[in-house]
Amino acid sequence: MKIGCPREIKPQEFRVGMTPVAAQEAVAHGHEVIIETGAGLGAGFDDAAYKAAGATIIDTAEEVFASADMIVKVKEPQAPERKMLREGQVLFTYLHLAPDPEQTHDLLESGCTAIAYETVTDDRGGLPLLAPMSEVAGKLAPQVGAWTLQKANGGRGVLMGGVPGVGPAKVVVIGGGVVGTHAARVAAGMGADVTVLDMSLTRLRYLDDAFRGEFKTGYASKGHTAELVVEADMVVGAVLIPGAAAPKLITRDQLSTMKAGAALVDVAIDQGGCFETSRATTHADPIYEVDGIMHYCVANMPGAVARTSTIALGNATMPFMLALADKGWKQACTDDPHLLNGLNVHAGQLTYYAVGKALGLDVVSPQLVIK
Ligand SMILES: NC(=O)c1ccc[n+]([C@@H]2O[C@H](COP(=O)([O-])OP(=O)(O)OC[C@H]3O[C@@H](n4cnc5c(N)ncnc54)[C@H](O)[C@@H]3O)[C@@H](O)[C@H]2O)c1
Repeated sequence: MKIGCPREIKPQEFRVGMTPVAAQEAVAHGHEVIIETGAGLGAGFDDAAYKAAGATIIDTAEEVFASADMIVKVKEPQAPERKMLREGQVLFTYLHLAPDPEQTHDLLESGCTAIAYETVTDDRGGLPLLAPMSEVAGKLAPQVGAWTLQKANGGRGVLMGGVPGVGPAKVVVIGGGVVGTHAARVAAGMGADVTVLDMSLTRLRYLDDAFRGEFKTGYASKGHTAELVVEADMVVGAVLIPGAAAPKLITRDQLSTMKAGAALVDVAIDQGGCFETSRATTHADPIYEVDGIMHYCVANMPGAVARTSTIALGNATMPFMLALADKGWKQACTDDPHLLNGLNVHAGQLTYYAVGKALGLDVVSPQLVIK
């Protein structure tokens, strides 16, 4: 199979769909890999690294799209990219179609077979191609929160770990899933006094067992959350209700009960945010203030560490990418129901129910499509 990897064109996206290591594996499996020139630069991979891996460097995205059997990317295809997709071509990338009728329309019209990273599943009910980015965002949250807390950035002027004679910052993490756990571990590692709140007692039991007092756990009732928020120097929003907008867990009224200059880091902003006063920001202008409280709400946090994120994503996507290339998408999806869960679009038909429901479109069963 000829696998093509174009340069990402979404603004401020520095990741790349294939690392040189992934290219090397694909070549070792007998496939041809074509990479658009400069595609890996944002993540620190130059053309020479891909050439050394056995890939061919191509001048333009047009040529990559025109000749590849499968396109491997990071972000959803942008409008000019969608025009280049064609019938029979496989697209393997993040899509997030439910809130995006235009993209859905274009993918259906192109006739391509689109497999979305975010809906591929695993045996434990997880989302293995989303998890690495949650791990990255979770670990970044205390880092950016600590920066936000610095006085020059509008924050409270509190050091995460304190110093001898001065206590540490109080950090509350709401949501103890992948993001929350990684955030709590880093914040605790920085010496902060950390409490993780979740609605799931099963999850709280796991955290308590696994991390043995590294951080405290608490039930995320409204009252308990409000009590802890009043005391907090930093609150990390890390909740997820799959398929739904994030619930608003701190209201604007509550801001006046908080310490002036405290930091709210809303990682759940990509699902609308879990603080009433959150609005999406960018890496170029990440923070803003409301009622004396600093907000950090960057919707694509992993982009800040494009190299780590690219390698982490590549580790997770590689086995699926190889299966698709080795067997062809139909056989690969037949053999692996988790990969089949990633199938969103095939030959002008929508094959993912949640997207159909969100957009009011007809859906064909993916099982039917692979028959
Ligand atoms: N901003 C970014 O760049 C970025 C990057 C990665 C992930 N995210 C987002 O971070 C959020 C968390 O992702 P995740 O992978 O950790 O999800 P996850 O499913 O692993 O964890 C979510 C946790 O939230 C808990 N929860 C749900 N409702 C709650 C409530 N009302 N109060 C307390 N806890 C509640 C769940 O029990 C679960 O443990 C998602 O919205 C995800 O899209 C954002």
